[in-house]
Amino acid sequence: MDWKTLYKSKLTTAEEAVTHIKSGNRVVVGHACGEPSLVIDAMVKNAAQYRDVEIVHMVAMGKGEYCKPEYAENFRHNSLFLGGSTRKAIEEGRGDFTPVYFCEIPGLFRTSMHPNVALVQVSPPDAHGYCSLGVSVDYTKSAVECADLVIAEVNTQMPYIMGDCFVHVSDLDFIVEADDPLIELKPPVIGDVEKAIGENCASLIKDGDTLQLGIGAIPDAVLLFLKDKKDLGIHSEMFSDGVVELVEAGVVTNKRKTLNPGKSVVTFLMGTRRLYDFVDKNPSVCMMPVDYVNDPYVIRQNDNLISINSCVQVDLQGQVVSTSIGKREISGVGGQMDFVRGANMSRGGKSIMAMPSTAAKGKVSKITALIDEGASVTTSRHDVGYVVTEYGIAQLRGKTLRDRARALIAIAHPNFRASLAEEFERRFHTAL
Ligand code: COA
Repeated sequence: MDWKTLYKSKLTTAEEAVTHIKSGNRVVVGHACGEPSLVIDAMVKNAAQYRDVEIVHMVAMGKGEYCKPEYAENFRHNSLFLGGSTRKAIEEGRGDFTPVYFCEIPGLFRTSMHPNVALVQVSPPDAHGYCSLGVSVDYTKSAVECADLVIAEVNTQMPYIMGDCFVHVSDLDFIVEADDPLIELKPPVIGDVEKAIGENCASLIKDGDTLQLGIGAIPDAVLLFLKDKKDLGIHSEMFSDGVVELVEAGVVTNKRKTLNPGKSVVTFLMGTRRLYDFVDKNPSVCMMPVDYVNDPYVIRQNDNLISINSCVQVDLQGQVVSTSIGKREISGVGGQMDFVRGANMSRGGKSIMAMPSTAAKGKVSKITALIDEGASVTTSRHDVGYVVTEYGIAQLRGKTLRDRARALIAIAHPNFRASLAEEFERRFHTAL
């Protein structure tokens, strides 16, 4: 059967498609802004027909209604990264959290975490019947490859992005057509503290470096201070609108990359329509699965790879906590360790952990003598590279515990330096 006839034979409504999900199924949802909203809404409406459907999702940017208490019998969320719409369900015991490196999720789907159903969103097919997974390729592509049943929302507003990011119409079981705006991530508010951190991070970046940027105000603030750099490259888990400006200004050219020159390599995208229009049919953007982009051995093939991520707390040894506040889980490791490891192994690479010096309106120092009870270490003291706050840069690699503690106290908020100095003196039997 030619692909056009096949496509027509698979067309259905969201309401009909979700009746094929069965109680007890493991359902993997397309990641982040690639979430298929129409199909998810229909699945939630059909909740009464299910018991114990496991919803596996990472960064959930949609409504997350399957986490509501009234659906506790119908859905159980298994989160690979907690976010605003899902955190409460885990805190209240209606959901679970599975710690996993982002680059290893496709491997889990191929082995111990077999998906029964994949709910994904794709672009309309091209002339050969291939749909692009668009803004979310990451684990979404492997979910399509592994699932017993694939329900795809074919959205005319999903950009057709290039790379290893295509699924063929024959790979899909049910097709639901849509013409709906994608989920967007609005640009963050960048305050003076973030600007100071951004400027400090930017001072560690040279012409020709290749960048990985995390999500949020700090990575966006770094971009503000890169306008005078030349020939930067992108090999990043994700990027947002800020990178578009740097490409248009001729700052990001990818010309000096040692792996995939000429291409911004990325596994998912979160931003506004401006970003989604920029990446549409743009041959300079290459979307690849996360087990390629985030594989530390792939990352390391980029010389001068600079990774910039954020965290919750750093203790005086340089142990970095990024996913919990004490016992309270707040996010997930995502690609932090993938890129810290890759950057550490890259020739000329640097891994940067950037954070404001305080939290809770200045009441809490993020540089602490000890990490909070119950917190989990995300980036170990053996892996940490640079820590940056609005007060400066602490380079920790190759430094003794004593010298690390000195460097960290020097970039702590001034209100907390005296108490940290007392701890230093107790621990190292020397004056600061
Ligand atoms: N003690 C108490 N509260 C703290 C705290 C600390 N040491 N550090 C942060 N917080 C609070 C903040 O006050 C804020 O509270 P609020 O929501 O009530 O305002 C909340 O925790 C989130 O902190 P914030 O600094 O605003 O978070 P962020 O949006 O900049 O995200 C991380 C920071 C660390 C949570 C995020 O970067 C992350 O999840 N990282 C791990 C994953 C990763 O790096 N992935 C790779 C790139 S995508």
